[in-house]
Amino acid sequence: MADYIYTLETRLTPDQQKAVTLVQDAAKAAEMNLYLTGGAIRDIVTGFPIRDLDFTVQGNALKLQKDLERAGAVVGDSDDETRTLLLTLPGGVRAEVAMARSERHEKSGKPPVIMPATVTEDLRRRDFTVNAMALSLNEGSRGLLMDPFNGAADIEAKLIRLLHNYAFLEDPSRLIRATRFATRFHWPIEERTLARYNAAKENNYIQHIRNSSIGYEIEQLAYEDDPLSILKAYEREGWLKVLNPRWNSAKVDTSGMGALMKTRQQMNELGYTPEVAPAVLYFLTTRLPDKDVSDIRKAIPRRDLVEAWKDLEDHAKDLAKRLAGKEAATPSRTWQLLSSARPEMILFLAITARQQAVVQKIKNFFTKWRQIQQKVPLPEMAELHITPQLPAYPKIANDVFLLLLDGKLRSRTEILKFLKPLAPPPPPPPPPPPAKRGRGAKAAAAAVAAAAAVPVKGGAKTKGKGAPAVVAPATVPVATGKTKGKAAAPPAVATAVAATAAAKPNAAAKPAAAVKGAKPSKAPVAKASGKPAKPAKPAVKVHGKSKNRKR
Ligand code: CTP
Repeated sequence: MADYIYTLETRLTPDQQKAVTLVQDAAKAAEMNLYLTGGAIRDIVTGFPIRDLDFTVQGNALKLQKDLERAGAVVGDSDDETRTLLLTLPGGVRAEVAMARSERHEKSGKPPVIMPATVTEDLRRRDFTVNAMALSLNEGSRGLLMDPFNGAADIEAKLIRLLHNYAFLEDPSRLIRATRFATRFHWPIEERTLARYNAAKENNYIQHIRNSSIGYEIEQLAYEDDPLSILKAYEREGWLKVLNPRWNSAKVDTSGMGALMKTRQQMNELGYTPEVAPAVLYFLTTRLPDKDVSDIRKAIPRRDLVEAWKDLEDHAKDLAKRLAGKEAATPSRTWQLLSSARPEMILFLAITARQQAVVQKIKNFFTKWRQIQQKVPLPEMAELHITPQLPAYPKIANDVFLLLLDGKLRSRTEILKFLKPLAPPPPPPPPPPPAKRGRGAKAAAAAVAAAAAVPVKGGAKTKGKGAPAVVAPATVPVATGKTKGKAAAPPAVATAVAATAAAKPNAAAKPAAAVKGAKPSKAPVAKASGKPAKPAKPAVKVHGKSKNRKR
């Protein structure tokens, strides 16, 4: 059996992994069995991006709401009948937690009778084989894949196959879903499923679609990676007018959609992951009358998505105003303003801004100004021991970058003038070589003592015959500006600059010679062997408790 937990852990983003843990904890506290189901499992098996997490619990999922909210979940909607929670979990992870249920369909178009069930029964009420798998997240069976309809084989064969003969009749929204999955994955609809699909179309099953399903499918469209091609497929199949009677591809702002996808891609490459669904809905409905837009908004179940869509224009206007004002009078201030703005707003404004100055500032933020990060004077910083080990390093690097953005720090003199007051004191010289053990150790110690004569209190536990511990002067060259490139790693600097929320640096490096009481002496090191002295190692051998040991 494939190790699905390993696959799960490697395929989920860190935020999605945290989301799984969070829901797992809530289900465990409520003593409910928990499974990851539906599209998430399909995507884990196929290798497609995992867009959202569908959980199924054996028990009333609504009882988990408070626990989940305490852990940072935002409830976008809840359905009392199916006992389902639509959530946005920390990090913007979309999730659904539903009660395992069976459905009894009495009449097409009427909501089914819902009954609590086991996860196996729940899998039976689903749409397509590839969506009818579950992965146990329970102690004892964690990682066990339940695949009663051999969905894995259909994934392998790349086929959309209906789970049972009545699946379209019971829930006509599955006709729309079949089109969506076939378009998204470029998978054909399996032959018999296609025959049922065509029969359902002919017999106009779609007229029985439930209102809640219309809203749900509009929402799903917004999360697609290529919503425009799905919308066009809906139009061809006659489903778009089911979602809204006046909706067609002419109502879409196609150039806005194109720009949205392109800019999102650019932002992704720079490490931003804006949530685009609100903007997708904006551009897909740009030319629809207000009344229809309002109807669509009412139909969408996830209220946080609707609010974000409604707020787009106002928030973008605010940002545009700030970008045109004093707050963004210089490149560095503009950088700071944009760095603290929500990526969604920058994305939307990048496409919709009218003022040339605003457009240019956003463009610079994504392109030209990022190149200036490469100009941070690393050699001068290393020369002054301003390295990533310093706690103040991220701030210093960022300040340097902001000055560079504004065209300051143009010469080496200016750079050094700015950096010098920020430099840490130079490290003391490194410690001496360890005293030699065994034969000759005594002679070596005596020679060193004669040369330096610096006794160390409570000194090293040299195993010899009581030779006093002596610290010899440094022979290791101290890193200077001439050791270019050795002291600081450029990527670390670039990262520190790029990250406005500075990464926590490691503890400050301790000076190389941390031996208590040691004073550097100019006397050369005399070695018993008479060979020239080798560069000293850190003082760990001489001084058993030296902190250098930990490094
Ligand atoms: N489902 C169903 N019939 C529907 C809607 C959903 O059987 N009309 C089931 C499917 O098993 C589906 C799961 O509920 O996999 C979750 O639904 P949804 O999140 O809409 O679809 P996903 O399969 O997760 O697809 P996507 O990648 O679009 O999120």
